[in-house]
Amino acid sequence: MRIAVLGLGRMGHSVAERLSGRHDLVVWNRSPEKAKDLVGPRVRSADSAPEAVEDAEVVITSLADDEAVHDLLFGQADVGSRLPTPSVFVDASTISPSMSDRIEEALPRYVALPILGAPQAVRSGNAIYLAGGRAELVDGLAPVFDALGGSVKRYERPAHALVGKLAVNLLLLSGVVTLAESITIGRAGGLHDRQLRDLLGETPMLAPGLSNRFDSVFAGSGETWWPPPLAAKDARLAVDVAASNGTMLRLGPVIRAAYESAVEMGLGDEDMVSVARIYR
Ligand SMILES: NC(=O)c1ccc[n+]([C@@H]2O[C@H](COP(=O)([O-])OP(=O)(O)OC[C@H]3O[C@@H](n4cnc5c(N)ncnc54)[C@H](OP(=O)(O)O)[C@@H]3O)[C@@H](O)[C@H]2O)c1
Repeated sequence: MRIAVLGLGRMGHSVAERLSGRHDLVVWNRSPEKAKDLVGPRVRSADSAPEAVEDAEVVITSLADDEAVHDLLFGQADVGSRLPTPSVFVDASTISPSMSDRIEEALPRYVALPILGAPQAVRSGNAIYLAGGRAELVDGLAPVFDALGGSVKRYERPAHALVGKLAVNLLLLSGVVTLAESITIGRAGGLHDRQLRDLLGETPMLAPGLSNRFDSVFAGSGETWWPPPLAAKDARLAVDVAASNGTMLRLGPVIRAAYESAVEMGLGDEDMVSVARIYR
């Protein structure tokens, strides 16, 4: 398949790595240096987003947030009106369900594809893809899913895939903050880290997704997979989804504020586990 991948941050680059060699790719990123190492026998780098999508059968975007996706599709680059017919537009960014509704209105051949998993999970073929869109469009992406590996959960509406993504993210975002607070309580009350590791590391309360980050939450630092600004963004989107239905989350705003504090402390380029340092 001829696939364009637009947005080569941590996630988009991993998606492109996974697809390269398995499909014909054209890649593009706002800061062009991130495309360089991908270029090879079946991978070409485009100078502009419109050029990247020119001949594509599938266009995949992986961008930071609503604003970035809006800019690319409906701003100056106007990619939304330059998508070739009958390509499928696939957005793998974590954006708001309301932005997703807007895209669905403008682009009839749109599939939302938020990803559960870190960049490493994408590279190793172990991520979970939440595919929201019309059945025939999602069916047509089978060769893309074959190359990506992992598993796919399907939703009839694009926005529902995003709601699912935000629901899962809130679990992880709150889990990291809660673990950081459990460690803080233990330390404050006089337990040694050795005792805390032994206790917390063996409790069944530690979910598998959290145990991956166990050591880095203790340290308050780790390899940057998912930085606090994107974590705060996802908590904010979760709060907004509940509010749009007239429901006020109790924990959501506190979780969002915790990651915002990490950003205010200058930890915005570190991993989300750096949120543990707001307690020191
Ligand atoms: N990291 C994770 O573990 C993870 C996991 C699942 C889902 N996600 C979601 O996946 C998406 C991408 O995350 P990431 O970790 O790859 O983030 P990232 O490394 O910060 O990359 C963000 C990408 O968005 C681009 N961008 C930002 N504003 C733009 C604009 N106005 N116009 C064009 N491009 C713009 C950036 O371009 P430049 O390089 O030029 O800045 C970069 O390619 C986010 O929605 C995130 O929430 C992340």
